[in-house]
Amino acid sequence: MKIAPSILAADLADLASAVKQCEDGGARLIHVDVMDGHFVPNLTFGPPVIADLAKRSRVGFDIHLMVSNPEVLLDRYLDTEPIRVSFHHEATRAPARLAARIRGRGVGAGAAINPGTGLDQLLPYLEHLDHVVLMSVQPGFAGQAFQPHVLDKARQLRAAAEARGLFTSIEMDGGIKPGNLDEVAAAGVDVAVVGSGVFAAESPAEALAALRRQANE
Ligand code: DX5
Ligand code: ZN
Repeated sequence: MKIAPSILAADLADLASAVKQCEDGGARLIHVDVMDGHFVPNLTFGPPVIADLAKRSRVGFDIHLMVSNPEVLLDRYLDTEPIRVSFHHEATRAPARLAARIRGRGVGAGAAINPGTGLDQLLPYLEHLDHVVLMSVQPGFAGQAFQPHVLDKARQLRAAAEARGLFTSIEMDGGIKPGNLDEVAAAGVDVAVVGSGVFAAESPAEALAALRRQANE
């Protein structure tokens, strides 16, 4: 399993150092949480911030759009040339079309679902997705408690994808720490997003390296 550090939990006045800490810890993907103050009650990174940060990073970005009307700003985020982008299922009525736009730019397309949203909602368009983000906290803030019922969703999603011959990558986001990382891996998750578990540590690079070892990345 891969660990994707989430820079939302870093010192937001020093994002370039946060990227450097991710690189030093061996990250192969950096999770970037985009919030619009509408879909979630918090506001973070616009496209110009991500574009400048990407220039400083040797590691590619995993952009998580927690925004209403993701179709409006999608292209500007795609212009930052991330590795993968996810939109929220709850925020759009045309998920398959959005996923096709992301794939059309050569970027991995994902849909994210809140802890309370059923997996059945995204199964009808699963073949249009490269990955699914299973939120294990309510989106909006780092540092919340992990909701263990989401582990069942990962197992069910893995089974549903396999039954359809799909290689959907499963990402889990929120509240992941060394204490629950083994359970997350055992549920079939491919990418574990970790925010405060990395950046609240005295040495984020060392904390990330330790998590990556624990996850056999
Ligand atoms: C929550 C974000 C997460 C968050 C994870 O809305 O999507 O990516 O940064 O942070 P932790 O690991 O602290 O829950
Ligand atoms: Zn996220």
